[in-house]
Formats: sequence, C-alpha cells, structure tokens
Amino acid sequence: MVDSLPIARDVPALRATVSAWRRAGLRVGLVPTMGALHEGHLSLVRTAKEKCDRVVASLFVNPKQFAPNEDFDRYPRDETGDANLLASAGCDLLFAPDGAAMYPDGFATSVSVANVSAPLEGEFRPHFFAGVATVVTKLLVQCGADAAFFGEKDYQQLQVIKRLAHDLDIPTEIVGCATVREHDGLAMSSRNAYLTVDQRRIAARLNAVMHDTIKQVRTGGLIAAAEAEAERHLLAAGFDKVDYVAVRDAESLAVIGNLSRPARILAAAWLGKTRLIDNMAV
Ligand code: PAJ
Repeated sequence: MVDSLPIARDVPALRATVSAWRRAGLRVGLVPTMGALHEGHLSLVRTAKEKCDRVVASLFVNPKQFAPNEDFDRYPRDETGDANLLASAGCDLLFAPDGAAMYPDGFATSVSVANVSAPLEGEFRPHFFAGVATVVTKLLVQCGADAAFFGEKDYQQLQVIKRLAHDLDIPTEIVGCATVREHDGLAMSSRNAYLTVDQRRIAARLNAVMHDTIKQVRTGGLIAAAEAEAERHLLAAGFDKVDYVAVRDAESLAVIGNLSRPARILAAAWLGKTRLIDNMAV
C-alpha cells in the first residue's frame, strides 16, 4: 500500500477486488504498463477513470517481450514512485505480480497473432509481439475488466491487441488513446530516459521528419520515394540507424501504393543503443 493505493501481488487478490467492484455494479478499467511511468501512461489512467468507476493499473516488466540482447535488465524500475503517480492520477488498485506469479513453473503457452504482427516491429523484433500478446491476454483474463486502455504510441501493438481480443472472444473493450508528446513533438517514452542531452535534441527530429513525409505524400509524392527521403533526413540529423519509416494501411499495416484508404506513418530509429518509435495518422 502506497499513499492509499492498494497493491495486489497475485491473481486471486486482483480478482477478489475486481469481482467485488463488479458485483456492486461498478465499471472497471484496466491500464497495463511496464512502469517507469510518465504523462503518457498517466493520460491512460485519467481516460480510464473518466470512462470507468474503478481503475486497475498493472506493472510488470514482461521478460517474454525482450530479446536476450535487449534492455530487460536495465529497463528503469521504480515501483514506489510509480504507485504514487498512479494514485495521484486516480488509479484505485495496482496489480504488480512478480515473474513467478505471472509465469509459474511449467508455463508453456504462447499467444501468436498472425498478419498484423508480421511487418515493421515484427520484422525487427521477431519475438516481441508473441511476448506482448501472451502477457496482455493473461492480463485481460486475470482482471476481467470492462475496458482496457492502450496508447496509440505503440500503434502496431494496439492493432495486435484489438485482433487477439476479438479472435479469442475476450469481452473487454479495447480502447486506443492518443499519444502524449513533449513540447518539441517527441513522443513520451520510458526509454527517453536513456538519451544523452545531444541525443535528446536529435530525437525531436523523428516526429518533425514524419510531419514532412505526411505533407509530401498528401501533396502527391510517391510513398516509396517519401519513405526513402525521410530515412536520409533522419540519418543526416544524427540518427545512427533507421529500422523503417513506412506509410501503411492504418488497420492491416499492409504496404500501400496510394492514400485511397486511411493510412498511418510509422517509424523506428536508433540513437546509440536507444530505439525510438513513433507513428501518426496520414
Ligand atoms: P509500456 O511501454 O509501459 O506502455 C504502457 C501503455 O502506455 C501502452 O499502452 C503504451 O502504448 C502507452 N504509452 C506509452 N507511451 C505513451 C505516450 N507517449 N502516449 C500515450 N500512451 C503511451 O506497452 C507496454 O508497456 C507493454 O508492451 C504492455 C502493453 C504493458 C505489455 O507488457
């Protein structure tokens, strides 16, 4: 318990509270997170509190969505600080299981979502969406909330979660929430804490270049040419590597040749060891 925010450490404790709320006729919202909370996460909690009577946030740094060479060990962790922020944003319960509560001995099940998981993040982080889909499926089933809130910041993740909830008949409404940005357009992210002062300055160019690319394709520029130009601009601005800048179908994330259907621009690029992602409607 931190500043009056109760903490559930296992599924029975979580379910006891949530089912008491639901028996009392209260609508329950869930906000899954990996902690190191910032305004982006807190905006999800506030939106959940507007749409629901009670809000559960989960905090679990999910080992299954990190590859062995990724930042699982150095991912920032501050449960007490996070719990205080959650309480101040109106959260009613923190679900913070440890690894053994989430993945007990003998755990052998994986949720994999075809098609929408395959391109972009799926190509550059092949293990990632199975890890996300498995833990999010568990969180949705564990909590039994009426609605769960996810950021558009992780746009492909949001599409994967919508797909799995629909396909597996999970009766929780999946709600997407707008990306919260710093004053210079950089999307807030727990990983921004890794950036040096110089890298932080360059990081803002990611969103600026995406705006330019949108303008270019909306005024008739060829999509493939605009994507290639964006990549050149990011490298010239000081990014060390660009995984992709891609204008895709907004729902399937399939490659498109024109803007006849709703489209989304998505990008991933590296500053040193830090990988940043962003996306916007075209
Ligand atoms: P995490 O990166 O902690 O993000 C938790 C939620 O906050 C996600 O839904 C993410 O999209 C949202 N979020 C992050 N930055 C945001 C921003 N700037 N504006 C709006 N929303 C933002 O995403 C994960 O954790 C994990 O993959 C998880 C879904 C918890 C599964 O482990």
